[in-house]
Amino acid sequence: MFITFEGSDGSGKSTQIHLLEDYLRKNGQDVQLTREPGGTDIGEGIRQVLLDMAHEKMHARTETLLFNAARAQLIEQEIRPALSGGKVVLCDRFADSTVAYQGYGREQDIEELKRLISFATGGLSPDLTLYLDLPPEEGIRRKLADYQNRLDVQGLSFYRRVEAGYREMIAQEPQRWVVINAGRSLEEVHQEVVRAVQDKLTALAPSR
Ligand code: TYD
Repeated sequence: MFITFEGSDGSGKSTQIHLLEDYLRKNGQDVQLTREPGGTDIGEGIRQVLLDMAHEKMHARTETLLFNAARAQLIEQEIRPALSGGKVVLCDRFADSTVAYQGYGREQDIEELKRLISFATGGLSPDLTLYLDLPPEEGIRRKLADYQNRLDVQGLSFYRRVEAGYREMIAQEPQRWVVINAGRSLEEVHQEVVRAVQDKLTALAPSR
């Protein structure tokens, strides 16, 4: 089973994905955790290029291609082999981030992006995507207290477009997404994440 986490910056995705990883391991699942951009040596190299504050001249198309190059490598090197081996794969961001950030955020053509993503993923799509829902203002507030990278320094209007983009994607494919209110305590959010994952595991389990 392939589960991805999406949400605005500062929504607590990374913390929640680690909590879910621990929970699933304790329940005897074979889990593989990874992240985008990154997750392979090649992908982590691309991540450095993408996040580097010195790369202020990077064009939106260059950025889009780099995210997708890292993604293609991650899928072929890590995700497909893990899924074939029966593992639960957890990924911190995936292709939906490209549609949200490079499509809605940077206002590039969504249909073109979807074709590029399909090329990069070879058609692989998550079974379940958890959207950690937090108003962009709150996400920015949380992130400001943290370390900043090139992709963090966008204005509020950018993050509003990203959020609107996620809402559109969720409306288009409601069976894949579960929206989780990320404005609550760590434990409350974790419980809801677990419930959504258990429901999906049950739904996908072969009936006897
Ligand atoms: P990261 O520090 O991992 O942020 P976060 O904790 O919010 O996930 O940086 C990833 C950044 O890259 C984040 O701002 C979202 C952005 N991103 C895209 O713009 N497009 C993409 O396809 C992906 C995977 C990420």
